[in-house]
Amino acid sequence: MQVLVVVGSMRERSTTRHALAIAAQGAFEAGARVDWADLKDLALPFCDGRTDRDAYGPAVTRWRERIRSTDAFLVGSPEYWGSMTGSLKNAIDLLEAEAFHGKMVGLLAVARGDAGAMNTLNQLRHVFRWMGAWVLPTQVSIPRAREAFDEEGRAVRPGLEEELLGLGREVVRYARLLAGNGHAPAGTRGEGVPPGPGPK
Ligand SMILES: Cc1cc2nc3c(=O)[nH]c(=O)nc-3n(C[C@H](O)[C@H](O)[C@H](O)COP(=O)(O)O)c2cc1C
Repeated sequence: MQVLVVVGSMRERSTTRHALAIAAQGAFEAGARVDWADLKDLALPFCDGRTDRDAYGPAVTRWRERIRSTDAFLVGSPEYWGSMTGSLKNAIDLLEAEAFHGKMVGLLAVARGDAGAMNTLNQLRHVFRWMGAWVLPTQVSIPRAREAFDEEGRAVRPGLEEELLGLGREVVRYARLLAGNGHAPAGTRGEGVPPGPGPK
């Protein structure tokens, strides 16, 4: 089982990244291979509405291929004016409509304010549901994010580390359940002949 961690902040020393690193540890402990997609390293262009396959060049082709070949995701974003970052939404806009069909997504979001990042989580859930993903009911909202981690990125708020580890474990657990219930592994969808009901 492979989990792709998508970091929706482009900031150095991002608190979203700190939170995702702990969730990724949970996924790793549950037996997953973990791979990272840091939006700041992907050099993605803006989606301008073109839909032809090769419109955007190699960075977008690689990004789409990484999503296509992965079955489970941990996605995190800071709250930017009550929503996810523009860079994360743009990265999602560059994908094909079926990119997340039948795939498991776990969400976390961070905010500077006391109210946390529930608006961002609700909007991410809405977008991923729209894209056909199975979005885990468990999610983590982190208010006052700058105070929630120390300089090394360790969670200092009571209970937060366990919450994030649990998110990572659950993504793997439910992705396995999906895979065990007739869900074709990534890269094989649409190939071969689907099993029919058999002779009567
Ligand atoms: C453009 C912008 C908009 C923001 N909007 C909000 C907001 O609506 N609510 C909030 O609590 N924090 C807001 N913040 C603060 C960030 O959510 C907070 O600093 C977060 O920890 C940044 O995540 P990062 O450390 O992963 O980059 C905003 C920050 C920026 C740069």
